[in-house]
Order: sequence, then C-alpha cells, then structure tokens
Amino acid sequence: MKLTQAVLPVAGLGTRFLPWTKVVPKELLPLGNQPIIAHLVDECLSVGITDICFVISKGKEAIPQYFAPHPEFEEELRKRGKLDALSELQKYDAVRFHVVHQDEQKGDGHAILQANDWISADVVAVLFGDDLILHDENGLQQLLRAYEDVAEKHPEETPALLSLENVPAHLVSKYGIVEIDDARSIGTIRRIRGMVEKPHPSKAPSTLGIIGKYLIPRSTIQKLPAIEGGHGGEIRLIDALTSQLGEVPIYGVEMRGKRLDTGTPEGYKEAVRMLG
Ligand code: UTP
Repeated sequence: MKLTQAVLPVAGLGTRFLPWTKVVPKELLPLGNQPIIAHLVDECLSVGITDICFVISKGKEAIPQYFAPHPEFEEELRKRGKLDALSELQKYDAVRFHVVHQDEQKGDGHAILQANDWISADVVAVLFGDDLILHDENGLQQLLRAYEDVAEKHPEETPALLSLENVPAHLVSKYGIVEIDDARSIGTIRRIRGMVEKPHPSKAPSTLGIIGKYLIPRSTIQKLPAIEGGHGGEIRLIDALTSQLGEVPIYGVEMRGKRLDTGTPEGYKEAVRMLG
C-alpha cells in the first residue's frame, strides 16, 4: 500500500512539562540534534509520506514554523557558501505541510477530527506526538509492513491497524487495552475483538496496550462526530474504533524495539539518555 498522508495531533497542553510549556511546546524539546517532533516527521518520510497535517493549539505555531522554508536564512547561507547547512535547512522542502487548529482539548479523536476536511486518502497514518520506537525499523515502518499482510487478507475492505505494547499488568489502567481474537489473528498480527479504555487490572482483557501510532481508514474519522459526549465529554479515537468492530477488520501489532514516551518528564529524560 502507498501511504501518502499523516495526521500528527500535537494540540495537547503538555501540563506535565510546565512551566516549560508556557513558552516551548514539549514537541520542540531537543532529542539528539533535532526536536522530538522532527523524529516523528522523519518517521513519516521514511515510509514515503508526502503530506503531513499538524493539529495544533494556540501557542504551538512554532511547530509548523520549524518545518517551513526560510528564504532569508537560505539566501544568507548561500552567500556564505555554507552548502551543507543549506541542504539541512531544505530537508523538508518536498513535504507538503498543512496546519489545522484544535481550539479546545476535547480528546485525541476530537484532535484528529479537525483534519477531516484535509484527509483524502483511504488510509491515513496517525502519529501522536509522544511515542517513539527505537529499533532498526521505526514504528511506522513496522505498522506498514504488517498492514500489507492485513490488506492481503481483506482485499475488499479497508482495515485499521493499531500499534500495541505488552505493558506491565499493574499499568494497564493507563492504556486502552485490547481483547484479542486468536483464531482470526494473522500470526503475530492480532485481530482485535474488543477494546477497553484504562481498565482496572482485574478487568483487563489482556496486557496489550494501544500506543500512539495508527493506520486508520477514513471511515473511522467519519465516525468521530457521532462519538461526541462520550467518556468525560471527550471524543476518543478508541470509541470510534470500538463502534466499528462489527464493520471494519481491526488489527494490532506489537511493536518490536524500545518505546520512548517523551510525553512525561521521566520518559523524556530516558529518551535523552538513549538518543543524546
Ligand atoms: P496527552 O494525554 O499526553 O496530553 O496527549 P498532553 O496535553 O499532551 O500532556 P499533559 O497530559 O497535559 O501533560 C497525548 C497526545 O494527544 C495529543 C497531545 O498533543 C499528545 O500528542 N492531544 C491530546 C491532542 O492533540 N488534543 C487533545 O485534545 C488531547
């Protein structure tokens, strides 16, 4: 499958990084020699995505600005003969970036819904700003490879594919947890029969938690408006997916490699230790 579009919701307030996030969006904190968000954009480029939509909120305009061309700097670097720096600055010139706003933080599904008019592909990648997979194959590459097998099994349908992590049993209440249908799984690509948001450990159907990378059919996005008024008044992606369980084949694949959760100060510190 040729994946062309990705939605990157980065509209969250980042309260866990206050007071930093009063002035710097957490996605622009450095990880190695680039901001966290550039790792996610590079992940998109690694699978050939050409169109990226940021969902931002007020005060996060610096995220799309980071990727926008800067003719004055380019001209100055050209004049000074700094051609390596120039080509680094032009790294993202071939990507078409788009920006939409989420004015109120009404959930992950609500954030994605803001990109509804922009989405034209049958399947879109959705990457939340906090999760990175450290492995020879990044998260999106692993998802896309698994999607080829899923699509082959369902040539007439447009399935959804979620990234999963086997989380410690006492932490299941922090994740959306999936219930697996072993009989309909494709090897290690698990067919999902149900999903429960943040269950008590005694009620969790498995220890496989959904993490922040998805391949989502457009039909799921079209379900989102009907979810309004869901849990805590939020529009959640997991509720839209759950509403489609009988209609759309939904699968999950456990990510290989180490997941870095850069959305918490502890997780960010660990990511810095690993990536510099
Ligand atoms: P989080 O639940 O980590 O929230 O969002 P947050 O605002 O980023 O951080 P805290 O909890 O205040 O510290 C997970 C991902 O979903 C996006 C966030 O930007 C982040 O990438 N998100 C969440 C939205 O874009 N909009 C929302 O309404 C909620």
